[in-house]
Amino acid sequence: MNYPHLTVSKEDSIALLTINRPEKLNALNREVINQLSDCFQELNNDSEVRAIIVTGAGEKAFVAGADIAEFANYSVEEGKRLSADGHDKLFDLVESLNTPVIGAINGFALGGGLELAMSCHMRVASSNARMGLPEVSLGVIPGYGGTQRLGQLVGKGKAMEMITTAQMIKADEAYRLGLVNYVVEQSELLDKCREIAAGILKNSPIAIAYAMKAVNAGFRDGVNGYEKEIELFGEAFGTEDFKEGTQAFLEKRKAEFKGK
Ligand code: COA
Repeated sequence: MNYPHLTVSKEDSIALLTINRPEKLNALNREVINQLSDCFQELNNDSEVRAIIVTGAGEKAFVAGADIAEFANYSVEEGKRLSADGHDKLFDLVESLNTPVIGAINGFALGGGLELAMSCHMRVASSNARMGLPEVSLGVIPGYGGTQRLGQLVGKGKAMEMITTAQMIKADEAYRLGLVNYVVEQSELLDKCREIAAGILKNSPIAIAYAMKAVNAGFRDGVNGYEKEIELFGEAFGTEDFKEGTQAFLEKRKAEFKGK
């Protein structure tokens, strides 16, 4: 497929997806969200792709937020639809993919940018990165999952502070708070993400998908994460990967897992 605002490359079963609108600091308008939605689904369905890294073009920004120019004149109903569509098409979609997604935060990750990074399964930041949810400074609130996922990652008190003050935090503070897994120099950002991805590639893609679903279940209202774990633990016993993984261990050899 053709994605005018994205660049996609694949190497060693790892896809690198770059949001490419640097003149607007990679801000997310509808077009970019639609392209990201289609592209993430395509990569998730690609049996060769076992991990996805998402980053922003240029050295300044991962994503500087939802496109403010686009929604500045929206009505109440349009605002609701914008948020609901975004959840559905991109933010919930990324979180519930079967393929692990690593957010490579290479600069500003603000508003929808931080929300996209928080929808990823893990995050690495470059030392110049700045993160925040500045929506209340615009008279609106985070609308792409930020009011929920920030508290899950950093705790309710710090999330309240970040959201109500609308202030950005630096990469080292984000690391201290558990918002990002690592901070590295910008020149090493993608290598660090590839190193994490390499650790993922050795393991069963089916078991990884089940495990991520079980982890996510515990963060959803109305879903019992323990019950989901029991169900998926059982399901795993019915997979080829389980037979191969346990057999390989008993035969003292490396497991050869099939694709997704
Ligand atoms: N939506 C739309 N356009 C955006 C944008 C956004 N979220 N963030 C940046 N841009 C645009 C700017 O309007 C500017 O476009 P222009 O050159 O046509 O005027 C371009 O990207 C470069 O941004 P600029 O503000 O000139 O860069 P800067 O280095 O001075 O400041 C930021 C960088 C990130 C601090 C600043 O762009 C900013 O505050 N952006 C908005 C962040 C935000 O509130 N996001 C949450 C949205 S809900």
